[in-house]
Amino acid sequence: MERKVMIQKINARMLHWAEAYMDRIYGPRKRSVFRELPSVIVEIGAGTGANFPYYAPGTRVIAVEPSVPMHAPLKANAHQWKIDLDIRTMMGEEMDLETGSIEAVVGTLVLCSVEDPRRVLSEVLRILQRGGSYIFLEHIAAPPGSRLRGMQNLLQRPWSWITEGCQLNRNTHALLQNAGFHKVDMDCFMLQSSLLPVTPHIFGRAVK
Ligand SMILES: C[S@@+](CC[C@H](N)C(=O)[O-])C[C@H]1O[C@@H](n2cnc3c(N)ncnc32)[C@H](O)[C@@H]1O
Repeated sequence: MERKVMIQKINARMLHWAEAYMDRIYGPRKRSVFRELPSVIVEIGAGTGANFPYYAPGTRVIAVEPSVPMHAPLKANAHQWKIDLDIRTMMGEEMDLETGSIEAVVGTLVLCSVEDPRRVLSEVLRILQRGGSYIFLEHIAAPPGSRLRGMQNLLQRPWSWITEGCQLNRNTHALLQNAGFHKVDMDCFMLQSSLLPVTPHIFGRAVK
């Protein structure tokens, strides 16, 4: 089996397996926002559907997910949580969605993994209606010069190799601030987790 497909399959299993843990660490924040989203949303890098429990039942989710091994657990979660699922096997950098057609886009733990986060954010801006929201939850780079940033820099290559390109030291907060949204609100927090290199996080909303 090709290495890429093998890693994709392993990651799909790991992510599916980690859903209960992610619910413990991210659930309260997601619950506070996701239930109020409109009836049609786009989710970039939907993975195995870890966000589906928090959407209102009946929500139509256009799931942008290029990794095919994620699709089976994605469908299973959609069935379990009564999500009307529309999977698009494409990259967030180039979405086959109409300009100005979407009221809300969600992305969780995804800007760390995409090849070109600036292009993804410019696509998000393109497909959003004026006044539409991008809701995000991301792990980010620790402050430059900190011990944690040193650790992230050191672990970056092996981490990226086993996680299909996840960048531990990406300045996603700055990318969001500079992407061209009308307004960006974000809460920066340190996750209570033993996975030290991914403790700095942001959770927020960017409005077009
Ligand atoms: C760490 S997982 C997060 C999955 C899910 N959002 C969650 O919170 O559990 C990152 C996901 O982004 C997807 N991904 C990677 N590159 C992508 C891209 N360029 N466009 C869209 N999705 C991408 C991966 O296939 C994977 O499903």
